[in-house]
Amino acid sequence: MEYKKSDVLKQYPISIEQLDNFLYTNSFVAEDGILNEIAYQYIIEFFGTNNYHKNATYENNKQSAHPEVSKLSFISNDKRIAIEQEDVITFLQKQPDNSVDIIITDPAYSGMNQMLKLGRGKIIGKYVDKGDGQKWFDEFHDTEENYEIFLKECLRVLKPNRHIYLMFDSYSLLTLGQVVRKIFDVKNIVVWDKMNIGLGHYFRRRHELIMFASKGKRPLNSKDIPDIWRIKRITSFKYPTQKPTEIFELMLAGSAEKDFVVCDPFLGSGSSVIASIKYGCKFIGCDIAATSIELSSSRVKAFLETKKDILQNKFMCEDDQTMKKILSKND
Ligand SMILES: C[S@@+](CC[C@H](N)C(=O)[O-])C[C@H]1O[C@@H](n2cnc3c(N)ncnc32)[C@H](O)[C@@H]1O
Repeated sequence: MEYKKSDVLKQYPISIEQLDNFLYTNSFVAEDGILNEIAYQYIIEFFGTNNYHKNATYENNKQSAHPEVSKLSFISNDKRIAIEQEDVITFLQKQPDNSVDIIITDPAYSGMNQMLKLGRGKIIGKYVDKGDGQKWFDEFHDTEENYEIFLKECLRVLKPNRHIYLMFDSYSLLTLGQVVRKIFDVKNIVVWDKMNIGLGHYFRRRHELIMFASKGKRPLNSKDIPDIWRIKRITSFKYPTQKPTEIFELMLAGSAEKDFVVCDPFLGSGSSVIASIKYGCKFIGCDIAATSIELSSSRVKAFLETKKDILQNKFMCEDDQTMKKILSKND
């Protein structure tokens, strides 16, 4: 079935820019103004909620809105991979001090993209509606205060002399990037060049940003990795914000050692887990969305058994010889 962008604009009090930002953030393509069913469902979930239209704050973070709902989890047989359905702050608070070797994560900043200002943030994910207008789970509101709570937890769980990689879009970098500088030693910003033009009214976007920072001192594993990563975006995806595994593989190429404990508390489709397995690392992570845990669990199980990635069957750096060389070192 086909859904038109123009119908969405009639249905919801949003501008074309907000809709295009939403589509871009979630890597949806609307050729000739036509949306596919998955994109349409996500639009309804996001713009159709009352939460979208009102200010909201992320308060205690400790409890889900409906703790009686049993949460999903997955632990591999060898116990090297553990993922669970949980709120980011609650999950990090459960981890001991100095227990993680590297954080590689891609938080949901869509509220920032939607509203282009702080205080009305809402995170994209597949939140299941309980049916009475309530959401099953609390949502992460990306105010500076909440982001600082998140970063302080990252700092606490990270061992000394270790690295953190935080993905950003341009807007969130401008508002939240300075918060990272208060907590971590920011070393550089890497550009992910998606190689194909996306949506956007004021220069069509084809990049995202990755902030690279450290707790203490630690050199990169290699001096040969450039700060522009040319990696094609995933176009046929099962999870709307699915990133190519190569992004996380390059982070690990820069900073990981075998058996390092990698942490990603905004797991999504589990691309960071696949990268961690390829690099011989252990992994802990969470996502608030049940769909994320379902999908990433089956992806990880299949990868451990067959070495085949069921969500990404192509190498996304084919055209970039430098990247190819760095990544092939791990084959
Ligand atoms: C940009 S996506 C991550 C995509 C992932 N890197 C991938 O490659 O598939 C951000 C994720 O954060 C999750 N999320 C949103 N709020 C959260 C919260 N409070 N705690 C944990 N996860 C949350 C969303 O469900 C979504 O899956």
